[in-house]
Amino acid sequence: MSEVSQRAGGSTQAATGELAGPARAQLRCIEENCRTAYSLNQTLVVCARCGGLLDIELRDIDEPARRVLRSVWAARRTSLDSADTSGVWRFRELLPISAGTLLVTLREGNTPLYEAPRAAEYAGLDQIWLKHQGANPTGSFKDTGMTVAVTHAVRQGARTLACASTGNTAASLAAYAARAGVRAVILVPHGQVSSAKLAQSLDYGASVLELEGNFDAAMRVVRELAEDGSLYLVNSVNPLRVEGQKTVAIELMEQAGWQVPDWIVVPGGNLGNISALGKGFIEMRRWGLIDRLPQFAVIQAEGASPFAHLLEARRRDANAALDPVADPRTLATAIRIGAPVSWKRGLRVLAETGGTSITVSEREIADAKAILGRDGIGCEPASATTIAGIRKLAAEGRMRKSEAVVAVLTGHLLKDVDYTAKYHSSRLTEPEGAAGGEPKPIVGAFANPPARVPATRAGILDYLRRSAQDSSAQ
Ligand code: F0G
Repeated sequence: MSEVSQRAGGSTQAATGELAGPARAQLRCIEENCRTAYSLNQTLVVCARCGGLLDIELRDIDEPARRVLRSVWAARRTSLDSADTSGVWRFRELLPISAGTLLVTLREGNTPLYEAPRAAEYAGLDQIWLKHQGANPTGSFKDTGMTVAVTHAVRQGARTLACASTGNTAASLAAYAARAGVRAVILVPHGQVSSAKLAQSLDYGASVLELEGNFDAAMRVVRELAEDGSLYLVNSVNPLRVEGQKTVAIELMEQAGWQVPDWIVVPGGNLGNISALGKGFIEMRRWGLIDRLPQFAVIQAEGASPFAHLLEARRRDANAALDPVADPRTLATAIRIGAPVSWKRGLRVLAETGGTSITVSEREIADAKAILGRDGIGCEPASATTIAGIRKLAAEGRMRKSEAVVAVLTGHLLKDVDYTAKYHSSRLTEPEGAAGGEPKPIVGAFANPPARVPATRAGILDYLRRSAQDSSAQ
């Protein structure tokens, strides 16, 4: 990496040198009976021949180059070069962007790997590690994919980028489009997105369209608009997003000293994340960076669990297809999704790693989130499905106490403060069912309501004495 320059406005930065060229990568349909290949320069949402999802296929990296990958990446950690300070572009040998491309980056990635002793004890394991993607520039894992998708889109000359979103993809697109000086059009389900996520998109100057319909309806319409060329789509159906997000697996392995964990646990919504992490691990094995694959567990909320149900159905019928949930419900609004677009990619990863997908209840999610808080970490509700899922898998004996388990926390605690405040003041209620009726309260095991005390020394000392007694009596 010899030279870095900035374009006017400082929005994008040129990286030169060893980036993989488009000749080293192509698009390929994932359907076994199609497998049509396309040039990366073609703007396609899905396979033009059969409508299947598209993968990015990297050509082989030769043996001498493979051998130095780890040390090249490690050396870049002390570099001040803008491409090197991004936790995505530092791994550019495995990204399909050609040399000299202007990178749209916000120094994404570089997220911490934490130990979580209280969450581990709660879940019944010796240890749990948390890969906290909420530490990204816009507070969610979406940034790692968005930097690649927006960089590619801008290079292709796209001027209007779009996504359907439950909030985080929207905030991420809005930020990266702003950096690149292009337009972001965001389609969100009205009334189903946290105010923090909406506020981000507004602040970054995106056109925010609140649709009367759920996320799946928004996804359908944005795909139509992308297929007729009206908009450039950056949802995770776009394989460039998957490429960026796969670098999380590489960064994780580096942080783990290249010791492959037994399990990687992720929340499941549209299933882009499982597809990306799976691709990252599978490619690392292909290039000889690791010698085995972890198992994956994809955790869904009970009211929005088409993928977990598909895995059950597949035990009876090996060819069962995804049966969408028409009206998905969960307070973890990030994963309120009934028709995940990447289910075939997700299934492929689980087939290769021997992983699983299970559901957890609203109460389990809420308590798991509060326990993560007690580790001083915190996350948004969707991310906490991981700890709830680990606890369930451990209780069922499917995950062993001594296994090395990494939960991927996908979003920051402050993404949904309303949920957290309600939990701690015991005002959280189950999502209303289609039948309506009285909302059922969720009584959290770790509720920590604020106390109102007189503004006096005596009043505060009295409160501290009484609350110390209460907690020792517990
Ligand atoms: N966790 C969070 C915080 C999310 O925002 C999402 C998805 C997921 C988990 C699920 O990941 O879709 O890759 O399986 N959010 C999308 C959005 C749908 O629009 O922000 P997935």
